Amino acid sequence: MNRSSVKELLQSDKFLQEVHVKGWVRTFRSNRFIALNDGSTINNIQCVVDFENTNEALLKRITTSAAVSITGTLVESQGKGQKVEINVTNLEILGDSNPDEYPIQPKKHSLEFLRENAHLRVRTNTFSAVMRVRSKLSFAVHKYFQENGFNYVNTPIITGSDAEGAGEMFKVTNFEANKAPLNEEGQIDYKQDFFGKETNLTVSGQLEAETYAMALGKVYTFGPTFRAENSNTTRHLAEFWMIEPEVAFMDLDGNMDLSEDFIKSVLGYVLEHCKDDLAFLDQRLTQEEKSKPQAQRSDMSLLEKLKFVVDNNFKRVSYTEAIDILRNSKPNKKKKFQFPINEWGADLQSEHERFLVEKHFKCPVILFDYPADIKAFYMRLNEDGKTVRAMDVLFPGIGEIVGGAQREERLDVLKEKMNALNIDEKELWWYLDTRKFGTAVHSGFGLGFERLVLFTTGMSNIRDVIPFPRTPQNAEF
Ligand code: 4AD
Ligand code: MG
Repeated sequence: MNRSSVKELLQSDKFLQEVHVKGWVRTFRSNRFIALNDGSTINNIQCVVDFENTNEALLKRITTSAAVSITGTLVESQGKGQKVEINVTNLEILGDSNPDEYPIQPKKHSLEFLRENAHLRVRTNTFSAVMRVRSKLSFAVHKYFQENGFNYVNTPIITGSDAEGAGEMFKVTNFEANKAPLNEEGQIDYKQDFFGKETNLTVSGQLEAETYAMALGKVYTFGPTFRAENSNTTRHLAEFWMIEPEVAFMDLDGNMDLSEDFIKSVLGYVLEHCKDDLAFLDQRLTQEEKSKPQAQRSDMSLLEKLKFVVDNNFKRVSYTEAIDILRNSKPNKKKKFQFPINEWGADLQSEHERFLVEKHFKCPVILFDYPADIKAFYMRLNEDGKTVRAMDVLFPGIGEIVGGAQREERLDVLKEKMNALNIDEKELWWYLDTRKFGTAVHSGFGLGFERLVLFTTGMSNIRDVIPFPRTPQNAEF
């Protein structure tokens, strides 16, 4: 007999028909009611066991997280809380789960405890909802770009370049620790290493994506990126997924339009296609907020926040305007910022970004035209000679969710910049070629996928929106 999913059965009205389903027991109550889940939906189906005619040994094996196969009759539910249920005619235990050893009990566990059991936490409502939303968001990302004429490119994971110039890279080498051969100058001789040069895990696929945009026109990447920055925050991972569109003949205004349209589109998609999971996460966040002091509570529910972003324009503000606002802000005057804003040129910290978004503008903000000194080498220099065509999209509760720029397409200006920053032209000869052969205005951005999932699900720690987080001192699983 064909197996149905729990999701299908819950929507079915084929009453009094025989159905077959497999899943894991969430709870077993009164020796009679199984709440069964198979991952197809956040909702469980109730399976009613005829306990008088079921042998006791079998009943004992119906424990939380046991895998079971059930055949029975679909009926309209007698009880409250569900429309349909299954009257079990045959139950088979596929895999036992010893209740004395199984760590995830049907009660509220702390997120910290669940992180230590990351291989089992997806069996909870919260994490299964988060991971289904994550999956749908991935699909929405591809859907958006594919429907708008973009080509998906897979940029290398092992590279010889440091796109961001921040030096926060994980080395890739075949040398044994302490046994690396040295050259005549006494330095490690990477010529003898696997690739014949120094290599690392990529921090961004941008530079390679730019070369592809110069032929395919519109491209995007969606892949893993790695950063060895030692930031133990709720928004940083050492391994995260980044989405990087890159578009030829598009300037910074077009880039801002694209980022806004893209984010609204993917959020709109999950609002439409993840209703049950988002309703659950909305409730969860509302509960969570209740434990906070009144002043720290959000005045919008999760669903309201998502709809707000979809329905309202992002505020576009230059860095210079933002600095003025911050300099004259209450927290700055009252010395409440950890990093006070005194002058133009200061790098913005997450406390400043969140002030602008959450307190001042109360909506997503796109900051643009940053000082050249605090941004990467590849950004296009403005006529003023001191700012570059950079943009960051800032979100409530998150801070920076997108970083991007119009790229420096003028070979001489780019070379000058690289020289000033001691970036070896010979290392990036292939990147410079794009400026030699048919250079053109082009722009792109990077969106941190986990930060998007964080915002969408209302979770508060980035470690809870990726299956197996990689952070300093943590690579279990
Ligand atoms: O601002 P970033 O460093 O920009 C770039 O890498 C550019 N090459 C992108 C481009 O223009 N194609 O990173 C982009 C985004 C950030 O806005 C943030 O959302 C995310 O990547 N991000 C991280 N997410 C999680 N953990 C980290 N350690 C992150 N670092 C950056
Ligand atoms: Mg950035």
